[in-house]
Amino acid sequence: MPFFSKKYKLGLDIGSSLIKVCLPTPKGRPLILSLETPAGVVSKGVLQSSEGLSEFLRQWIKRNQLDHHYVVAALPASTLVLRHIQLPRMKAKETAEAVQWEARRVLPFPLEEAQMDWVSHGLSIIDEGEMQDILLVAVRDSIAERYAKAINDAGLKLLALDIAPMALGRWLLKDTQDTTLIIDVGAETTQVHFYGGAKLIFSRNLNIGGEAATSAISTANGISFAEAEAKKVQGDYQENWLSSWFRELGRELQRSLDYYRSNFTDKASDHFSQILLTGGASLLRGTSALVQEITGVEPGYVEFSSKDYRPRHDKIIYNVALGAGMWEGK
Ligand SMILES: Nc1ncnc2c1ncn2[C@@H]1O[C@H](COP(=O)(O)OP(=O)(O)OP(=O)(O)O)[C@@H](O)[C@H]1O
Ligand SMILES: [Mg+2]
Repeated sequence: MPFFSKKYKLGLDIGSSLIKVCLPTPKGRPLILSLETPAGVVSKGVLQSSEGLSEFLRQWIKRNQLDHHYVVAALPASTLVLRHIQLPRMKAKETAEAVQWEARRVLPFPLEEAQMDWVSHGLSIIDEGEMQDILLVAVRDSIAERYAKAINDAGLKLLALDIAPMALGRWLLKDTQDTTLIIDVGAETTQVHFYGGAKLIFSRNLNIGGEAATSAISTANGISFAEAEAKKVQGDYQENWLSSWFRELGRELQRSLDYYRSNFTDKASDHFSQILLTGGASLLRGTSALVQEITGVEPGYVEFSSKDYRPRHDKIIYNVALGAGMWEGK
């Protein structure tokens, strides 16, 4: 019998500072690993160099005997175009054709140059009658191919490209009816995802993350970036060194909220039943208070429980990769 369940896949989250590799298990502790992203391979959360990544992964995968697993890799919010459309109720085949037509109308690039998928969000009733609510998700071919090439060239079997907000929803919002906001504060980006129940409504990418906080600590103390990073991770800093970082994050979060409220409150409530924080830099002291100040809701940190005998302080970084590993097809 194989040690790990065949049901789950190897989930991959290729971050600006860390590559996360997870193999969820139905019970017990998942396999979780992080590797430092080689310099220049990922910028602002987006893979830049297929070759750089595949070379690095190939050696590591062989060493760890993980090359027989199927892989699901998550694309970050900044690579995605999300659009909501409505179509009259019709047969499945006709719906599939109509989605293609609508996609041509609403996407900012030609359909021939993109990978596009869609999910049904159920039915709603408007004056014209019963309509199907559909979310379109598209990514440019050039970006999808870059990720696919890196993973295949590394000797892994790529099963699917997932998207980060759906990976998070799959893992963290299985049975909820709530309106949820998930904020993923990474190294170079912060991704803000809005959900009605388990359905993704909208995602926004902000170009601010933990690296800029490290730079602020380095400037405030006249120390190197590496020294400032060590101080930050140990919690050895004063929040006032980060006041401009928090101001910028707050401004961008507020903008995201305003955009959501003026565009999507027909799809979900503008009151969040829960707000979840994930990503390494969400551990910065003051982040939770800032989010509460802006939204009026006290956020929670999402970590998986594990029977690991060692406490893991880095559990917060694995949520995207865990969700990707739980991918079960459309
Ligand atoms: N205890 C801590 N306190 C503050 N920051 C931390 C802590 N631990 C890790 N970090 C920061 O978290 C970031 C890494 O988190 P994560 O792995 O979620 O980012 P990433 O996925 O690589 O980046 P991105 O999502 O922007 O591409 C780094 O900036 C790191 O300094
Ligand atoms: Mg990340």
